[in-house]
Amino acid sequence: MNRNNSVVSSLAPVKQCMTITTMRKHNPIVFQRSLNDKLRSSFGCFKPLLRHLVLIIFTFAVLVASTSAVGQKVELSVDASKTGAKIDRNIFGQFAEHLGHGIYGGIWVGPDSKIPNTRGIRNDVVAALKAIKVPNVRWPGGCFADEYHWRNGIGPANKRVVTLNPNWGGVIEPNTFGTHEFMDFISQIGSEAYVSVNVGSGTPHEAADWLEYMTTAQPTTLEKERAANGHPAPYKIAYMGVGNESWDCGGNMSPDYYLSQLKIYSHFVRNFNPAQQDKDQMLKIAVGPGGEEPRFVEWTDTIMKAWQHHQWSWDINGLSMHSYTVGHFPPPYKSVGFGEDEYGQILKLTLQMDGLINRYSGIMDKYDPDKKIALVVDEWGAWYAPLPGTNPGFLVQQNSIRDAVLAALNLNIFARHADRVRMANIAQMINVLQAMIMTDKEKMVLTPTYYVFKMYVPFHDATLVPVSFDTGTYTHGDITLPRVDAIAAKDTNGKLWLAITNIDPDQPVEIDANVAGITARSATGQTLTAPKVDSVNTFESPNTVVPKSVSATAQDGKLVLKLPPKSVTVVSVE
Ligand code: AHR
Repeated sequence: MNRNNSVVSSLAPVKQCMTITTMRKHNPIVFQRSLNDKLRSSFGCFKPLLRHLVLIIFTFAVLVASTSAVGQKVELSVDASKTGAKIDRNIFGQFAEHLGHGIYGGIWVGPDSKIPNTRGIRNDVVAALKAIKVPNVRWPGGCFADEYHWRNGIGPANKRVVTLNPNWGGVIEPNTFGTHEFMDFISQIGSEAYVSVNVGSGTPHEAADWLEYMTTAQPTTLEKERAANGHPAPYKIAYMGVGNESWDCGGNMSPDYYLSQLKIYSHFVRNFNPAQQDKDQMLKIAVGPGGEEPRFVEWTDTIMKAWQHHQWSWDINGLSMHSYTVGHFPPPYKSVGFGEDEYGQILKLTLQMDGLINRYSGIMDKYDPDKKIALVVDEWGAWYAPLPGTNPGFLVQQNSIRDAVLAALNLNIFARHADRVRMANIAQMINVLQAMIMTDKEKMVLTPTYYVFKMYVPFHDATLVPVSFDTGTYTHGDITLPRVDAIAAKDTNGKLWLAITNIDPDQPVEIDANVAGITARSATGQTLTAPKVDSVNTFESPNTVVPKSVSATAQDGKLVLKLPPKSVTVVSVE
């Protein structure tokens, strides 16, 4: 992430203007009472007339009140006979960096821990991650990747080289979680490895050795070393990142310098796994843009232009993009203890993701109209001020219903760009930034963001179905946002799914869904909402923000769904 430039706009205090309209919206009864008082004092002598007038006004007020309880109506049309691009399951990827308690404490507790574990890896965390079907995990960083030397993390546990982690708090890096532990973790949760190699402070030789160590089946010295360390069979490395943020923490390189490195790494860092030579080939992902600045346009242009005319000796399959919802650095927003102003501001910021994707996929289209190269949003999510009392280098923050809404909005954006955005990794999986899971020694809690990822499992590899609706608007002070967002898709068994987000934190929404192409009889699924805009799950109260069952039956060919304020709903249509 580019820490010097604000991605965002105004954080100006939002004006509270109580017009009659907003008064009525917020409290129709109060409005009607004050009107009654005025009428009484002015027209006291015309009592019978007054009674009629009061009755009319009362009826009107009740109507207004009941409309606001039902909320806005949104007509939504889905045509299940038409389909679009496939939503690659890899957009639901995760990111686990050696940062704070992202690895140590979060995944790795060691085989001697009292916390139930399998070969040192927490059983509770593994079970939770299996349930969200994590398609891939990016490791070991982040900025950490460009300081990681893989040899420090292999061999007997008591002989591992102990180093420092200068990027993230300057703490001790014991290297007890290395290649074998990561691959064990990946296999326990049923995922794929996305390994970032060290371009910033490593060498092509070091990276080439690492890949040979992990993937060769031939009896080389490195293969024998891997077997002696407990894994005779070659590992499958599905994705390889060539550096991380090489324009900043990864070595502050110019686009041309990075391009020359990319060509070398892409050629010499080979995957030898026999099962990955024809099908299942390892995909190589180059460093791409990290914000809106002109230098990132130049960066993207340089890589893509070179790729268009690339020679046989180098190639890539993806270009990464990093975009955090942060405002500026240091991060000004709190992750808990905020109100509707900050709720709206953060969601406004997060919707900039769409423009950023348009900008960079537009450049990619120039050189790659067939969309062979994927745009890989391999760092995204909310980045807030660290929780008071925590190590600022550990990037610890809470996770609220606002983050659940934010996650759904971003996943919907990725899905709508499914033809180009074929992979994404939320930052980060456990205990860091917008995490799925938080742990404290033996305790574990699942965040609102976790539940969104769980509810969206049916969208893994599903096929987009066109959906049209009027988003409406939610206005708070000087913030205006779409009120509703939605996507529709058919899962791999052909079942139709809808994901609908009600951004408005105050008003419910009634969705009247017309489904063409199938006879829709009912819809069932789950809704995630919470009492307050900053409601969170804690170790003490882990069930404040958890999904609840929801269902609807078709009326006159329409599915009527009532969505609570600030909610994410996913239903299947029967
Ligand atoms: O996710 C935290 C950090 O943000 C990553 O290490 C880096 O790539 C980005 O700047």
